[in-house]
Amino acid sequence: MIKVAPSILAADLAHLAQEVADIRAAGADYVHFDVMDGAFVPNISFGIPVLASLRKTTDMFLDAHLMVDRPVRYVEAFCKAGADLVNVHVEADTPERITEALEKIRAFGKKTGLTLKPGTPAEAVLPWLDQADQVLVMTVEPGFGGQRFMADMLPKIRTIRGWIEERGLACELEVDGGVDAETAPACIEAGATVLVAGSAVFKRTDRAAAICAIRGETK
Ligand code: DX5
Ligand code: ZN
Repeated sequence: MIKVAPSILAADLAHLAQEVADIRAAGADYVHFDVMDGAFVPNISFGIPVLASLRKTTDMFLDAHLMVDRPVRYVEAFCKAGADLVNVHVEADTPERITEALEKIRAFGKKTGLTLKPGTPAEAVLPWLDQADQVLVMTVEPGFGGQRFMADMLPKIRTIRGWIEERGLACELEVDGGVDAETAPACIEAGATVLVAGSAVFKRTDRAAAICAIRGETK
């Protein structure tokens, strides 16, 4: 079953609790929570206090995507605030400190995600793949919603799916950036199991239909 993870970056943030209740009712599986620090990416979004507030209003699975430098500094705070899974970028620190960040997330009993920017090869996940709960492949340059899907990332998704199968891992494979009803089928065919969609869900009035369309189902 394909999971859909709407990104609240595209939601009406003044009514966040209502927006999340709405996508829950519409059949979304995760809430994708995009954290940007203005350093790792050229944009700033929201962070720990917003996640803590949102946690009090919903029982949905919170999938935090940390687009921040040296995430080891913040992973504990995101776990304490109520994230269910914390994705860190492999480019954001040294391999040793990425390992440390993942260990901290696990120590809190939360799930771990390894994230790759478009320019980062699939091989970059290999040191951690056996222990990861999720790999997140970016199909746009991180930093902004509403960008065009990079179809040239499909071979990377396929390669990582191959490794997950070969090793018999339960690791989820998430795709993020420009995913909509048109681009989702290629992601699913390449082996993705979780599809992030910001604009393609929150900018639609019928969100249940939008989520079904991304999953490849009719409402
Ligand atoms: C980009 C973010 C994405 C983004 C997706 O830096 O990580 O999650 O919000 O938005 P859409 O689906 O509009 O491309
Ligand atoms: Zn994201």
